[in-house]
Amino acid sequence: MNRLTDKHIVIGITGGIAAYKSAELTRRLIEAGADVRIVMTHAATEFVTPLTFQALSGYPVYFDNSDDVESSGASAGMKHIELARWADAIIIAPASANTIAKLAHGRADNLLTTLCLASEAIKCFAPAMNRVMWDDPSTQANCKILIEKNWPQFGPASGSQACGETGEGRMLEVSDLLNRLEQCFKSGVLQGLNLVITAGPTYEAIDPVRFIGNRSSGRMGYAIANAAQEAGANVTLISGPSHLQKPESLTFVGVESAEQMQQAVLANIDNCHIYISTAAVSDYRVKSISAQKIKKTADNLTLQLTKNDDIISTVASHKARPYVVGFAAETENVIANAKEKLIRKNLDMIVANDVGSPSTETSSEQVDIGFNSEYNALHVFWTDASLKDTSQISGEQHFDVARKSQLATQLIALIAKQYNLNRSHNAKNTA
Ligand code: PMT
Repeated sequence: MNRLTDKHIVIGITGGIAAYKSAELTRRLIEAGADVRIVMTHAATEFVTPLTFQALSGYPVYFDNSDDVESSGASAGMKHIELARWADAIIIAPASANTIAKLAHGRADNLLTTLCLASEAIKCFAPAMNRVMWDDPSTQANCKILIEKNWPQFGPASGSQACGETGEGRMLEVSDLLNRLEQCFKSGVLQGLNLVITAGPTYEAIDPVRFIGNRSSGRMGYAIANAAQEAGANVTLISGPSHLQKPESLTFVGVESAEQMQQAVLANIDNCHIYISTAAVSDYRVKSISAQKIKKTADNLTLQLTKNDDIISTVASHKARPYVVGFAAETENVIANAKEKLIRKNLDMIVANDVGSPSTETSSEQVDIGFNSEYNALHVFWTDASLKDTSQISGEQHFDVARKSQLATQLIALIAKQYNLNRSHNAKNTA
């Protein structure tokens, strides 16, 4: 597992001889575990055939025959907006002087430029052109505009060029492009901070073979753990039973019951800066677990349940408490119930998700959200340490339906922002 695993990457290919290197880029990204889609400009198709990229990526190539967005979108079978939302990152490689100029000035005259304008994904570009075109002040000015718009620029390198000249303007080699792309996913907003994240369900044993559980898959919590790592945090992930692959390079603690989860959380909370409780923890456990498998004899069977401790409230009541983020899985009165939990459990932030409406419409399809789905939609509320009355909700933000991995990145950015605001307020007060 590396930073590109499971990432949705769009490679935008523009007209230039370096387009042949993008075939290798496609292959290497797929090898790294990324999901790749290719968008080609008309000029790019004159250098390398779309079929090459279709074969390598395993998906039809999106391109425009007429530089007309509507027809290209339709022929591609996927509108530019959907592709824009699908992408975690768009890398334009090679990026021609013409496309760089268009992107710098917000032009949207073909599928690729429209897609870039419509996407909130990471966007980066690898210039490739003749050295004189590269040196031209207008090209330099356009690159500067893109960099100021937060587009990382990869290269160019210098050396012999296809046109026979020698100088700056060659596209970077594929391994350099991959390294630079990987770096883009490292935001550093949580650099050096210790995070404890819980995920998945808990199983409360009834007897040696049966348990009370819930539908949590762990996806939301694992996505948050990945996003926190990308942000530079040291992550301890405490997970109930899940079929997901354990994320690498973090501390992983597997548990089964709520009591085990509580023990694991308390054992790891001392140096923790931020605690995120995504787990669907069982509120009750069976009072006396049968030592043997319960036989089917009586028509009715009564199980006596006893309340589990509320782990997050315990963490929030610690004297040197971390910044505490809870989740609220609700089937009705989502907002009101989440706000009530934020205050009652003395949290800093709560993330509400509606697990009652099984299906939600995106621009392209009906998707399930919440439990055991790749998608979710979040409504976040937080309190503010600088207010006298910390039981007052001071801010909120809605995140529309999206893949959990995308939501996790956005949520981590918000948590980092609020954590820093809280920390600077607390530092001022103790100074
Ligand atoms: O795992 P997925 O399939 O991806 O699904 C994700 C999710 C729907 C499980 C997740 O997004 C979510 O909403 N998790 C919290 C579910 C939940 O148990 O909510 P709650 O309203 O019951 O609990 C509120 C908060 O208290 C939660 O942060 C919970 O972790 C915490 N809690 C609850 C009970 C308990 N005994 N101890 C706790 O710490």
